[in-house]
Amino acid sequence: MSLRQGLRSGSVQVCQSSVKKVSASILLSLPLAAILAACGGSSTPTQTTTPVSPPTSGTADERADAVLAQMTQAQKLQMVAGGVASDPNLNYAFPRGAGGWIPGIAQLSIPALYFADGSVGVAYSVGPATALPSSIASAAGWDTNAAVQYGTVIGTELSDYGINVNLGGNTNLIGREPRDGRTFETKGEDPILAGKIAAAHLEGVQAQHVIADMKHYAYNDQETGRTTANAIIDERGGRESDLLAFEIGVKDSNVQSVMCSYNLTGGTYNCENSHLLTDVLKNGWGFSGFVMSDWLATHSTVNAANAGLDQEQPDQEYFGSLGTVIQDGLVPQSRLDNMVHRILRAMFQVGLFDYPQTIQPIPAAADAAIAQQVEENGAVLLKNANGQLPLNAGVQSIAVIGSHADVAVLSGGGSAQVQPVGGPALPSVYPCPPCWSQVVWDPSSPLKAIQAMAPGANVQFADGSNPTAAASLAASSQVAIVFVSQWESEGMDLPSLNLTDLTDATPIDQDALVSAVAAANPHTIVVIESGGAVVMPWLGQVSAVLEAWYPGQNGGPAIADLLFGKANPSGKLPITFPASVAQLPRPTIPTPPDSTTPFAVNYFEGFNVGYKWYDSQGLTPLFPFGFGLSYTTFSLTNPALVNNLSSTSDPNIQVTVTVANTGAVAGAEVAQVYLGLPASTDEPPHRLVGWQKVMLQPGASQAITIEVDENDSSHPLSYWDETSGAWTLAPGQYTVYLGDSSSAASLTTVGTFTVGS
Ligand code: BGC
Repeated sequence: MSLRQGLRSGSVQVCQSSVKKVSASILLSLPLAAILAACGGSSTPTQTTTPVSPPTSGTADERADAVLAQMTQAQKLQMVAGGVASDPNLNYAFPRGAGGWIPGIAQLSIPALYFADGSVGVAYSVGPATALPSSIASAAGWDTNAAVQYGTVIGTELSDYGINVNLGGNTNLIGREPRDGRTFETKGEDPILAGKIAAAHLEGVQAQHVIADMKHYAYNDQETGRTTANAIIDERGGRESDLLAFEIGVKDSNVQSVMCSYNLTGGTYNCENSHLLTDVLKNGWGFSGFVMSDWLATHSTVNAANAGLDQEQPDQEYFGSLGTVIQDGLVPQSRLDNMVHRILRAMFQVGLFDYPQTIQPIPAAADAAIAQQVEENGAVLLKNANGQLPLNAGVQSIAVIGSHADVAVLSGGGSAQVQPVGGPALPSVYPCPPCWSQVVWDPSSPLKAIQAMAPGANVQFADGSNPTAAASLAASSQVAIVFVSQWESEGMDLPSLNLTDLTDATPIDQDALVSAVAAANPHTIVVIESGGAVVMPWLGQVSAVLEAWYPGQNGGPAIADLLFGKANPSGKLPITFPASVAQLPRPTIPTPPDSTTPFAVNYFEGFNVGYKWYDSQGLTPLFPFGFGLSYTTFSLTNPALVNNLSSTSDPNIQVTVTVANTGAVAGAEVAQVYLGLPASTDEPPHRLVGWQKVMLQPGASQAITIEVDENDSSHPLSYWDETSGAWTLAPGQYTVYLGDSSSAASLTTVGTFTVGS
């Protein structure tokens, strides 16, 4: 068993809150106070005095300072490092199934902090929870209100389990590396869309009095060699891409924790990178919460503390000696006070003192319904030749093929893995790599849901392991629906963007399967369950393609609703689907020479991430960012540009347009506004600066105004000027475009405006 595998398997328990089971080897390394707190007792075993009540009035900062003023040095040190000493075997598991834990301080009424993952639902170790569709599916909905609900589900269920810190907000801009095994956890490739969706998730979590977290700060854009990858990128490139997504997330949501990532940037580990942590995040963006390390991502005591790391996780390997280095004058006392202030401030800000949690059952039925809505809003219809979809309920025979669609839908692996309500549908498999991460099939049957939509039809299933048998079933059916899936996980990157079966003992060549079925039946529909982009060598052979992402707890019914038109697809790609890996900035993923030596990952493309890269290179992808079909048609008429940039209080531009549903069924369209900056800025031809999703009944229309506000956290009209170190409005002519995807062909020019003389 590898160390990391042990860490994940939780084979050693500090204490299980319900049964008070304690591992002797771990306990030997714990201070007594920590043992008692781990086991649900008090962290002050000999306490005789009445606990001091926390201040009830004042700002979060004032209340934090009032508590800080009463703390001993030992109590302060307890707050800034995980609740166990460093374990050479790296086996960490904490009460309440948490992945991290800081014991409470009873005499000051400071509650314990329980940290748990949750990018797509509550972390596996905590308990059964609603498996939401992938985060990227939420981004594909292009709907920030719905994204708040997504975060609300995570926050509510964590709170119901007694977890008060969520390690969920993965906002890495994996458009740089679409083979990244954590793509499903992210919000796509565009910094503004990703930042806004992330902010909505974080807001939803924090509204439930659970501290939310943005991660992995920053440039953790590939899993290959993630602990030693050294991101090389120029400041402007970073500010306008990965850092911009974080900036929006931090500013818009008031998130109270940020996790620094394993990798290095410009030769310095991110958890001791004072430029990233202090200059940019804290001083530049005014981040008021605390920075925690990713798990075991701390590399030093003095450098990390002075650079701006506020809390080591999950143990005390380095910050266990913080007291000593402070005594030695290597880290100022004021830094420790500031770390603790930030942590307490976060706790007051989010309501941990004011709203004690009640451990209770999760609202599973209500949350499953939300999961289904997320999927129905985020699935993307990529192809629909000859109106193949929606299917008619009167269809007489349907072949359902592949991907265990008889019983389940796929989910993504790693720390974001959810233990679905009802339990996994199939026994665990641990593919290597990454070994420590299990494949979980969520218990939702597309087959049953399809049968329910077409009760009169003969619906039969072939598992796809025998392409000839699958093709023959398809040949004897009116319609064939092939489910293909691509499992991905933290700790690995995909070997390619071709479908690779990592979940079956005898891997199925799914590309060949689709081709065989399509050759047998001209009405072949492909449903893709993936964390991100895939290439489709069979695209020309099939009549319809639905990208369902990892569809979550109610994936089966959601997919059936979409296939039969009970729900009309309205998702738009938040990530470009390349025609081949040869189109990527790095056709081969940079690999480390060994497990310890930092190696360069050169992000020479700078801010040209995702569609901006394809546009800058004149490449035509398979499907562009922003693309997605519907069962109805829309018109965008009379677009006009309003220029309010002369306003000193609220400089903005506005695009007004009438969106009409010109088809026969209700549906939603996403009107997308892109901006071309003056040529002198060397920006890509157009960048997304605003959008609005509009739901319309057939024949209905709505006049909308999309405002692009220069004072917004997204700096939509500006570029990062390296000389002044500031966002700057360049003089020259700007062009405003409107369309339904990022592809130049789908954009119309709304107007131009000029800045300066
Ligand atoms: C992951 C984080 C996660 C942490 C705790 C790390 O390996 O990179 O995303 O929050 O573990 O589980």
